[in-house]
Amino acid sequence: MVMATASGIDAFRARVDEFVGQHPVVVDNRYTRWFAGGEAPRGEVRHLTVQFSVFSHLFVEAQLRKVINAADLDTYRTGKEILLNELGVVFNAGRSAAPVGADADLVATEGTVDGGRFRFGAAHFEWLLRFAAPLGLGFNDLGKRRHGSAPTLFFCDELIEVYGAEDASVAEGASYAVEHWAAAGFWKELIVGLEAFRARECDGLPLAFWTWHDKVEDQHAAHTADELVAAYAQPWFDEERFLAGAARMLDGVQAFWDGLWADHQAGVER
Ligand SMILES: [Fe+2]
Repeated sequence: MVMATASGIDAFRARVDEFVGQHPVVVDNRYTRWFAGGEAPRGEVRHLTVQFSVFSHLFVEAQLRKVINAADLDTYRTGKEILLNELGVVFNAGRSAAPVGADADLVATEGTVDGGRFRFGAAHFEWLLRFAAPLGLGFNDLGKRRHGSAPTLFFCDELIEVYGAEDASVAEGASYAVEHWAAAGFWKELIVGLEAFRARECDGLPLAFWTWHDKVEDQHAAHTADELVAAYAQPWFDEERFLAGAARMLDGVQAFWDGLWADHQAGVER
């Protein structure tokens, strides 16, 4: 067991950040870099939307497992904030008297689900349905396993196995990796590409699903940095299993984007 000294956590964090910060999916995501160029035709935007909807919907399963397997009450509650918000409980940002809408561009990115209000329309999957409608995609086209390509399903299954792992060190490593990948800029690249697509051929396409997530990511990354400090101090914490969880999770993320890139190169459109 490693003692939770200041130098221990600092050295470990430096090791983690070097590993995560140099992973190809963080520094060299060919798909999102290409997508940000704004040249994606409608078929490719539809294909991205369907694959993203499968990941985003099945992520809820992984998040539930993370909650069930949480090592302590704090992590359990932090996991529930994400899970219930994902399902449609709007963050209560201390403005309880203010009217709360269900649209992504109207609801808070900060606060807590404790005392927050549930709205069907505030489920992130429903935001995605509203984004997808102008693309000609409906409820039955989105979010199910049967819509996922093999790499997308590999990523989703890795999320359940690793992000939702029973081994708390593995799960913490996966969590840290996912949040740092998500905060590293892929949302911004997708938003730039989608804005270009909207201006070119899909006037009125609502981008709030994407912009809301981009806004929330910085806080998630900050939370997982705090979580790392807390986890590191626990008797069960294991550096190597944390790093193994982070590595396996980032490889899963990479499989997802490499799958989209391969489909792009092969001219797969839906
Ligand atoms: Fe979400």
